[in-house]
Amino acid sequence: MKTVLRIVAGLALLLLVVVVGGYLWASRATASTLARTIDTHAVDFPIPWPDVGPGGELGDSAAASVDPRQAALERGAHLVRARYPCADCHGENLGGGVMMDAMPVAQAFGPNLTLGEGGVTRDYGPSDWDRAVRHGVGTDGRPLAMPAVEFRSMSDQELADIVTYIRSLPPVDNTVMPFRTGPIGKMLVATGAFGFSADALPHFDDHAAMPPEAGPTVEFGAHLAATCAGCHHTHYAGGSFPGEPGWPPSSNLTPAGAIGGWSLEEFRRVMREGVRPDGTEVAVPMTYILGLGQAMSDMELEAIYLFLQSLPATETPD
Ligand code: HEC
Ligand code: HEC
Repeated sequence: MKTVLRIVAGLALLLLVVVVGGYLWASRATASTLARTIDTHAVDFPIPWPDVGPGGELGDSAAASVDPRQAALERGAHLVRARYPCADCHGENLGGGVMMDAMPVAQAFGPNLTLGEGGVTRDYGPSDWDRAVRHGVGTDGRPLAMPAVEFRSMSDQELADIVTYIRSLPPVDNTVMPFRTGPIGKMLVATGAFGFSADALPHFDDHAAMPPEAGPTVEFGAHLAATCAGCHHTHYAGGSFPGEPGWPPSSNLTPAGAIGGWSLEEFRRVMREGVRPDGTEVAVPMTYILGLGQAMSDMELEAIYLFLQSLPATETPD
C-alpha cells in the first residue's frame, strides 16, 4: 500500500514539476516575444489629405469646390464603415472594444482610438499610424496582437482619411486594459501557434500613395478584397483559418466554389443579407462582414465580384 502511495505521490510531484516548468518556460518565452523591438520605416503624409494629385492637379473635391477636409472626412467615414472592420474590435464609437475576451487563452481589447482620456493615439503622427495599422507594431516597437496583414495594402491616402475621420469623432474617456495572455495563450505564443502580424509583414517596403482608381474593375476589386484574405486566404480558395472553436472553414471564393455560378445580384445579396441563392444563411463569422457589405456601394461589390470571378478556379487546399 505504502509503495503505491509513494508511486502516486511521485507521479503527482513529477506532473507538478512538468506543469510548473512548462508554465514558467511558456511565460518567459511569451514575455520575450512581446518585449521584442521591431524596426519599421518612417513615413510622412499629410493629414488631412489635401486632395491634390501628384502633379499638383486638383482632386475631385477641389474641382467640385468641396472643402478638402470635408471630402477627406467623408472618404474616411466610408472606409471605416464599409471597408475596414476597425469598429469590430475598437468599438462602434472607436472608444475601445473587444477582440477576444477568453481567459485562460487571452484578453485582447481594441484600445480607445479617440482623442478622449485613455485614447492611445492622441500624440500619434503619420509614422505611428503607419506602424500600428500597416505593420502591427506599437509606438514602443513591440508587436501588437492586432491582425494587421489585411491592412498592408492600404494606401497613404486611405490611412490619412481614416485618421481624419477618427479625429473628428466625439472624444471618449475610456482606458482599455492592455493585451494579456493566460496559461493557454502563453503556450500558443511560446510554441508559435499564435503568430503576430509584425512577423509576417515587410517593414521597409514603400506603401502606395493612392488606392487604384475607384470603379467596377478587377484592379479596384483586388484592392477591396484584401480585407477578405484574413479568413479566405490570399488564394481566396478558403479553408481553415485561426479563430474560435466551432467556426466553419471559410468558403471557396474562386470560380471553383459555389460563387462561380452566382450572378452579381446574388453575390450582393449574400454580402448584405447573408442569404445564398439556395436560401441557406452564412454562418458566424461571415455574418460579422454583412455590416461592411451593407455600407459598400453597388459599384464596390461589383468590383469585388469581378475580381473574384477573374481568379483561377482553385480547389480549397486540405
Ligand atoms: C481584429 C480586431 C482588430 C481590428 C479589425 C483592428 N484592430 Fe486595432 N487593435 C486591436 C487590438 C487587440 C489592439 C491592441 C493590441 C496590443 O496592445 O497588442 C489594437 C491596437 C491598435 C492601435 C494602437 C497601437 C498602439 O500603439 O498601442 C491602433 C492605432 C489601432 N489598433 C488602429 C486600428 C485601425 C485604424 C483599424 C482599422 C483599419 C484597426 N485598428 C482594426 C484589434 C483590432
Ligand atoms: C472573419 C472571417 C471572414 C472574413 C473577414 C470574410 N469572410 Fe467570407 N466567409 C467566412 C466564413 C467562415 C464563411 C463560411 C460561412 C458558412 O459556412 O456559412 C464565409 C463565406 C462567404 C461567402 C459565401 C460563399 C459560399 O460559397 O457559400 C461569401 C460570398 C463570402 N464569404 C465573401 C466574403 C468577402 C467578399 C469578404 C471580404 C469583403 C469576406 N467574405 C470576408 C469568413 C470570413
